Amino acid sequence: MAPQISIENIADYVGQNVTIKGWLYNSTHKGKLMFLRLRDGSGMTQGVAFRPDVGDELFETLKGLGQESSLIVTGLVKENNRAPGLPSGYEIGVEAVEVLQNVSDYPITPKEHGVEFLMDNRHLWLRSSQQWAIMRVRTTIKRAIIDFLDNEGFLNIDTPIITPAAAEGTSTLFELGYFDEKAYLAQTGQLYNEANIMAFGKVYCFGPTFRAEKSKTRRHLAEFWMVEPEMAYFDLDDLMGFEERFIEYIVQTTLAKRRAELELLERDVTALEKIKAPFPRISYDEAIARIAAIREATDDPELKEQLAIEWGDDFGSPHETELTKQFDRPVFVYGYPTQVKAFYMEPWPGRPEVCKSVDLLAPEGYGEIIGGSERMSDPDLLVAAIEKHQLPQAPYQWYIDLRRFGSVPHSGFGLGLERTVAWICGIDHIRQTSPFPRTLNRMNP
Ligand code: 4AD
Ligand code: MG
Repeated sequence: MAPQISIENIADYVGQNVTIKGWLYNSTHKGKLMFLRLRDGSGMTQGVAFRPDVGDELFETLKGLGQESSLIVTGLVKENNRAPGLPSGYEIGVEAVEVLQNVSDYPITPKEHGVEFLMDNRHLWLRSSQQWAIMRVRTTIKRAIIDFLDNEGFLNIDTPIITPAAAEGTSTLFELGYFDEKAYLAQTGQLYNEANIMAFGKVYCFGPTFRAEKSKTRRHLAEFWMVEPEMAYFDLDDLMGFEERFIEYIVQTTLAKRRAELELLERDVTALEKIKAPFPRISYDEAIARIAAIREATDDPELKEQLAIEWGDDFGSPHETELTKQFDRPVFVYGYPTQVKAFYMEPWPGRPEVCKSVDLLAPEGYGEIIGGSERMSDPDLLVAAIEKHQLPQAPYQWYIDLRRFGSVPHSGFGLGLERTVAWICGIDHIRQTSPFPRTLNRMNP
């Protein structure tokens, strides 16, 4: 009997008879020849059926198969450098086919569909080659993240999803009932990571986080995955040095392992090849000055309007986009105004209006992919910051305690998985990076 193989390993079976269990992506026929594009989840290949070889009955059956019919194909693997597929360059000379289900009227056809229609059919859209490629890249990015942190001696410690208090501002909390109390879905695992590092040194959490973002931008999801490394005895400079090595590793590993998928997505891979440490580091003050200069120089009245900003304001996406156009690598912007950042950031020495925060902005208009900072290590300053943000003190008592029992300088950051996938894949909207995205106007399917 022919061994059952995965299409991604087809190169190992040239000259052998094999069986592939999959689905029909599409088909064309020309006279006595029929080309079946087959997918099995691991790849895509071409099946070639020649009427005199397979017989009239099977040939007619194959001609009648609709897109996404499920079928088991047996045949001989051959090299053919013109054969499309992933991997390309191989085909299978069809000898026998078992049809499990012949499908008619599959809703997603090779013609163009509107994105809302595709999102309504997300459960099926995932089978399309582009969506398939994006998810393959996503899984590799996740693996690269974990491998890097494991190799650096980090412990993966899980943090709770049900939390009693805000960590990243009160305007994006999802509230839920917790028996007789109010609770919230976690916006971040960071505060718990800060407890964990005092026990374990270097930790990370990696899981879903939730923001009730009332924004419809192409960068925001209501549920997204974030990896959050946190390190004891680590300052802002240590943090930037670590982040640039981390990003270089993720991008270069993904490029090495998923080049074919990135090419299928028509990603300009030369832009990714340039993602090597070190990355430029500019202060918020310098960023404001650069944006003012860009604004001064432009003749485009709309852009001039969009780039209006004063010291103390947070950047919007037009600011980030124009600023990052000046670089071919991600750029660190550090030292944001305290007023635009979360309550827990260490103040800049001698400049209390500035904090030791750092965002990493991706090139090509992808904007912020990392947010991080050195954390406040003084208990009294922390209590004052909690008050200033009008947060209740009781649920943070344990967090303040950390500053009373062996407080040390420490830092950490969060990398948004979906934004990273969007950037590496070069796709314009974050919703395609999540298998079943949750956005302001959608949680279905
Ligand atoms: O900058 P943020 O809000 O930082 C934190 O949550 C920190 N507690 C992380 C830490 O220091 N441990 O979020 C971090 C990253 C952003 O840079 C972005 O990549 C992603 O998480 N992110 C989102 N991604 C998709 N949809 C959203 N609504 C996102 N909000 C943040
Ligand atoms: Mg941020």
